[in-house]
Amino acid sequence: MTDLLHIDHLTAGYGSIQVLHGVNLSLASGGRLALIGRNGVGKTTLLKAVMGLADVKAGEVRLDGQDITTWSARERAHAGIGYVPQTRDIFPSLTVEENLLAGLKDRPRSALDEAYALFPRLAERRQNGGQQLSGGEQQMLSVARTLLGKPRLLLLDEPLEGLAPIICIELMRAFEHLALNTGVAVLLVEQKVDDALRFAPRAVVLERGEVVHESESVALSQRKDLLERYVGVAGAH
Ligand SMILES: Nc1ncnc2c1ncn2[C@@H]1O[C@H](COP(=O)(O)OP(=O)(O)O)[C@@H](O)[C@H]1O
Ligand SMILES: [Mg+2]
Repeated sequence: MTDLLHIDHLTAGYGSIQVLHGVNLSLASGGRLALIGRNGVGKTTLLKAVMGLADVKAGEVRLDGQDITTWSARERAHAGIGYVPQTRDIFPSLTVEENLLAGLKDRPRSALDEAYALFPRLAERRQNGGQQLSGGEQQMLSVARTLLGKPRLLLLDEPLEGLAPIICIELMRAFEHLALNTGVAVLLVEQKVDDALRFAPRAVVLERGEVVHESESVALSQRKDLLERYVGVAGAH
């Protein structure tokens, strides 16, 4: 079977700076994969390379078997890749509802109900401005806006970063619900390793732009030595 996402010997970065060196990675349709590693190892760059926002020097990115390596970000979004950047991509001067409307593209306005069903907090705050939202609500809005494009592949870049534990639980539940009910495949970059390994059955560890470990998450969560070395935490309990 063809993987939904297949990354083959990818070398990429920014201009003359190479960040990723020969990365291989695959994700099946409807699958979940955790991508972990320390700050600065290239996790965001990998997601950007999948989205068409980094410079590829060598290798390939395939979506459903099709080589999309030279496609623009817009073309990739149209083909079903949704990217939620680490920076929480919302318009602070617009309301929640206006932010969502901006993500609608050619879908009917009633599609907003999907976003509100997934994140009831956003429904309560639909008339609030983006800058009045808490960090968690901004993240929910950023995710919800991307989902309105009905992606087949969702790229999440540290969605839990800086959020209170209770909000992290709410977000992880929403991702779980999404994966189960919409069949979207999820590539999750997350420094909260316990959450990442619980969510995804497989995990890839990145170190200095290279994949240094790939295994089932259950197996990795027992490897305190690897988690200590590559992520700097004692790991899942
Ligand atoms: N726009 C950019 N231009 C040049 N170098 C960058 C840019 N963005 C990130 N880098 C560098 O690429 C490396 C990997 O960064 P990044 O992919 O953001 O890592 P991570 O997400 O794992 O923390 C770092 O050394 C960082 O300084
Ligand atoms: Mg990053």
